[in-house]
Amino acid sequence: MALRILGIETSCDETAAAVVADGTRVLSNVVHSQIHLHERWRGVVPEVASRSHTMRILPIVQQALDDAGMAPQELDAIAVTHRPGMIGCLLVGMAAAKALALRFSLPLIGVDHVQAHVHTALLAEPNLRMPSLSLVASGGHTAMYLMRAPLDTERLGTTRDDAAGEALDKGAALLGLPYPGGPSIENAAQGGNRRAFDLPRSLLGPDSLDFSFSGLKTSLLYRLRGPGATEPERQLGEQELRDLAASYQEAVVDALVHKIVRAAERHEAQSLCIGGGVARNARLRERLAAERRLRGLQLVLPPMALCSDNGAMIALMGFLQLQRGLIADMALEPTATPQAGGKAKSR
Ligand code: KG4
Ligand code: ZN
Repeated sequence: MALRILGIETSCDETAAAVVADGTRVLSNVVHSQIHLHERWRGVVPEVASRSHTMRILPIVQQALDDAGMAPQELDAIAVTHRPGMIGCLLVGMAAAKALALRFSLPLIGVDHVQAHVHTALLAEPNLRMPSLSLVASGGHTAMYLMRAPLDTERLGTTRDDAAGEALDKGAALLGLPYPGGPSIENAAQGGNRRAFDLPRSLLGPDSLDFSFSGLKTSLLYRLRGPGATEPERQLGEQELRDLAASYQEAVVDALVHKIVRAAERHEAQSLCIGGGVARNARLRERLAAERRLRGLQLVLPPMALCSDNGAMIALMGFLQLQRGLIADMALEPTATPQAGGKAKSR
């Protein structure tokens, strides 16, 4: 009999639930995005997000069960994101997960959201070659991990300031483009010249596997409003906007690709996977597929629905943790920060 796990995700601005069988077959994957609620603030407002999760969580869980054609009694466990994220948001998913686990006497499994992005590679490609290098790039995180085996990961580097998605969101705001910035910069970049503007790539020295994007954002601000940002805001011409968007996107992608290549070579990775909202970016996907120095690596570019936040990756982690007896109890607490890597612990 297949092990069927319900995965619940509410750490940021997606209310999501999914049922996955044996960690490989996605039976349902329901995501409700709150983007329209946060658009006008150009970022996620924690209180607004947690209120919306509260309204949506039960219908979303019900939808995930209906789509999978299952009753809750037929589940084998409930997995829920308990870190990292906004505490008020995490609490909503956790309350739902605990209630279901209690009511139907099911094991409760606490999942690290960033680790779930890293392990999404296994959902997209069950025969993942190890060690596997994984880039997780979203609005809140940008880090690289080496996976030696499922649940055995090491963080190789992380951002020292802004996340890649945050750099795109803030860059888009400076360019007067809508939130979220990643897709709007990607759109605006169409027909733009990637080399029109020479924007900086912070590589942080020849050995570093960390990232830094705040200098790039400041450089864009100075391009727009003069050194020190003392000049008044000016209206950009259409082509100038396209060129700036294309050059800015290229600077972000360049920094990511550069560090991926460096890490893959140094750690002799056999495969490469990307996750998080920024992994949806077509230019990043194109550059990785074309990169000569990554040839020979198994390249796993998960489908869009598995890149951004979803319940399927949480259910996958639930499956892996359940097999190792890494089960939580009702004392499971939300935590704002991620696990640094290493072998998974039960809580
Ligand atoms: O993983 P995600 O959905 O949520 C979290 O932040 O956890 O990632 C959202 C981030 C935002 O910063 C957004 O601008 C970026 O992912 N993003 C993209 C694209 N779609 C979303 N960045 C580049 N290109 C995209 N197509
Ligand atoms: Zn995420």
